[in-house]
Amino acid sequence: METLHVHLGARSYDICNEPGLLDRCGALAAPLLRGKRCFVVTDSNVAPLYGQRVLDSLRDAGLEPRLLTVPAGEASKSPAMLAELWEQLAAGGVTRADSIVALGGGVVGDLAGFAAATMLRGIDYVQVPTTLLAQVDSSVGGKVAVDLEAGKNLAGAFYQPRLVLMDAEVLNTLPDRVFSDGMAEVIKYGCIQNADLFARLERLGSRAAVMAEITDITTACCDLKRQLVEQDERDTGLRMLLNFGHTLGHVYEKAYHYERYTHGEAVAAGMVAAARLGCRLGYTEDGVEARIAALLAAFGLPTEISVTRADCEATMRLDKKALDGDIRFIFLRQLGCAEAVRLPLDTLLAQL
Ligand code: GLY
Repeated sequence: METLHVHLGARSYDICNEPGLLDRCGALAAPLLRGKRCFVVTDSNVAPLYGQRVLDSLRDAGLEPRLLTVPAGEASKSPAMLAELWEQLAAGGVTRADSIVALGGGVVGDLAGFAAATMLRGIDYVQVPTTLLAQVDSSVGGKVAVDLEAGKNLAGAFYQPRLVLMDAEVLNTLPDRVFSDGMAEVIKYGCIQNADLFARLERLGSRAAVMAEITDITTACCDLKRQLVEQDERDTGLRMLLNFGHTLGHVYEKAYHYERYTHGEAVAAGMVAAARLGCRLGYTEDGVEARIAALLAAFGLPTEISVTRADCEATMRLDKKALDGDIRFIFLRQLGCAEAVRLPLDTLLAQL
């Protein structure tokens, strides 16, 4: 089993990664949990695939699990669904010693994590991510949230899990488009922090080849994220490097009303555009844009999404990295090396 330890003082935890781990999640989680009762929050896609295995494993370890299933899809990441979960937890007699197991992709992890952060002012939770995107990104680092009418993830908290359990076998049931969605974030780690990972992905070049080495690859990604989270848990500095491709990615997602492109697809095109802008503004080495575009295309991801300048301006002025007419934009110096640069938003917009 690959194990990483996220060092965050009293909020430290392990990330355990092994094919077949789903059947051992009870044995791994039980020693960390104080109460016997645990609420497995999942969605209507994941429940029929993996719900019973997780319940059996938790029961075999002496825990008393209950399944709470929300409808699959982003619409469940809402204040209304959060309130419904609170009510279900309260009706189930939750105490501060009890826990939540978040079994699913990013929507379930963010929603269940936020329920854990707020129920009784905080109960323990375990992340069991079932998508590639959740395994390499959202399950690690403690960002939990729900969406508001005004925008995504606007109500949330930093609340670290007690444990993250990853099982690569669950990725086999993902549709290709959902797998590629996660590959955009995998490729992002290569871009910002690890040129060897980037070159390895170039050599692999297909889902099947990546799956042959997937546990090692997802562990490498989590290790890169671990290092940033340990240095900047609350996202005020270094952790922002994880936003490479995301400033424009958010523009694309929003311009198409979050319907046409997945998050990973929008980030993919955002990374290519960020490399191009970096080259034009003298931050990024020549040739980086072409390599990123070729790698993304190999995994079926878009390399260009067209939007108007007005779309860019409107979304970027509201970006969390915007400051008094400036924006902190993540540029690559070269593959494997990223930097946050503060520059006037107008300078950036003029290059689009
Ligand atoms: N997904 C970006 C972060 O966790 O900071």
